Amino acid sequence: MNNNLWYKNAVFYEISVRAFKDSNGDGHGDLRGLTEKLDYLQTLGVDCVWIMPIYPSPLRDDGYDIADYYSVDKTYGSLDDLKVLIEAAHQRNIRIVMDLVLNHTSDQHPWFQSSRMDKNSPYRDYYVWSDDNTRYKDTRIIFVDTEPSNWTWDEQAGQYFWHRFYATQPDLNFDNPKVQAEMLNVARFWLDLGIDGFRADAVPYLIEREGTNCENLPETHVYLKQLRAFMDEHYPGRILLCEANQWPEDVRPYFGDGDEFHMGFHFPIMPRIYMALKKGRFEDMEAIMNRTPAIPENCQWCTFLRNHDELTLEMVTEEERQWMWKEYAPEPRMKLNLGIRRRLAPLLDNDRRKIELANSLLFTLPGTPIIYYGDEIGMGDNLDLFDRNGVRTPMQWDDSPHGGFTSGTPFTEMVKGEYGFAHINVADQMKSDYSLLRTIQRMIALRKKHAAFGGSDMQWIKTGNPAVAVYVRQHAGETMLILNSLSDALQQVALPAEYHQNGLELFSGKTLSLQAPISLQPYAYLWIKLS
Ligand code: NOJ
Repeated sequence: MNNNLWYKNAVFYEISVRAFKDSNGDGHGDLRGLTEKLDYLQTLGVDCVWIMPIYPSPLRDDGYDIADYYSVDKTYGSLDDLKVLIEAAHQRNIRIVMDLVLNHTSDQHPWFQSSRMDKNSPYRDYYVWSDDNTRYKDTRIIFVDTEPSNWTWDEQAGQYFWHRFYATQPDLNFDNPKVQAEMLNVARFWLDLGIDGFRADAVPYLIEREGTNCENLPETHVYLKQLRAFMDEHYPGRILLCEANQWPEDVRPYFGDGDEFHMGFHFPIMPRIYMALKKGRFEDMEAIMNRTPAIPENCQWCTFLRNHDELTLEMVTEEERQWMWKEYAPEPRMKLNLGIRRRLAPLLDNDRRKIELANSLLFTLPGTPIIYYGDEIGMGDNLDLFDRNGVRTPMQWDDSPHGGFTSGTPFTEMVKGEYGFAHINVADQMKSDYSLLRTIQRMIALRKKHAAFGGSDMQWIKTGNPAVAVYVRQHAGETMLILNSLSDALQQVALPAEYHQNGLELFSGKTLSLQAPISLQPYAYLWIKLS
């Protein structure tokens, strides 16, 4: 495989640096702590780490509110620490990508401070100001639990400013060429430092236009293509990953003709994996995959089960959303905005079979899988914590005080009870061949070993059994037949005649005869290599 396409057959891992490993005992995870844990990530088989924002920030949105684009917040360390991390990661063939937050800054950013203070400031036009808070009225509110409007009155400025997220995160004005140039400079700075690419935050919202919903506008794509061209010219092999929480047909333009984003999250498949598990039927997954357009050969979807946000239910119908809340958020405090603020293991009743099955889907569907830190050991959440903080608690390394996360006092309360570090931690699971961690490690290794998974081809196989998702992945001369049972009961699957041959099941290493109907235990999965 052309090395510039490395991301197509990779496994990604998302990390909150604050919550991963503290190296200096101040209770906050930091870059040196993460560097100490690279061996763990290498053992797990991770190819690329996405680190959440580490910029100086007043932390009104956990760092997605940036006050300075050109340095590292001192709780995480220094720019030199980041360089050391990148170098140490590269020695282990691990790449590091970081968040690039284009759409907005913190209200503490000097640009905004200057902008609000003086109508004649050179920075006034860096933000979107208006005397009229009824403009762009067709634009939805994203943080519905906290924000009554996308406009907030600013006393100092004597005008309203536009923001798609918290009112502490004013939107930058991407109609201003200076803003466009500033953000290219930001990208250049981190690329020069050695970063392997960006997870570009909230890209649908860069541009506003009256009479539209202010999402996915053509002018937004024009700018993003410039960013890509700039990267291709000066930093080939570095990537852009698109965060556009949209329907597949609306994400499709972000790949352009292979000249915009390298990768894009597939948001709608995610809740449908949970729907499938709860209903014991794969039909919703099949429907969304059939609705997913083809993408250029040099592009790749990104699949995930959970991330640092609430499990978003934006890409489902109202009826499906209500159903998901009923099934997966039985306590009101589990709901947040249009989503559910819980982690993978608790969502799946801490049922090892369901957790493995969800991961089997993650690793075999088209797209590059991203693991959210801690989900590989089945970490839980802490619902007492505010907003999304409950799914961003410290990584549980061992059963020593504070789970080996820090020798000091953790910046936050950790997970308690059955999911606490006394029961769930890396060290214990490393010791056993049968732990969840070891199983995920095997899945990663198999996924990476077989080129079929890195392609985009996927064919659903009709077997007449609605409870077993059966599909074929074919690429680079390899064919994989995948069976995932969504059922809590024993299932039988009879394959069409063209599959009546022998196949090698990858986990057991056994040759299976596929002529006779296959029996599947509850939530069983089989990855079968056909010859
Ligand atoms: C998406 C990020 O994932 C989320 O955590 C953040 O709050 C918003 N973008 C705003 O930056």
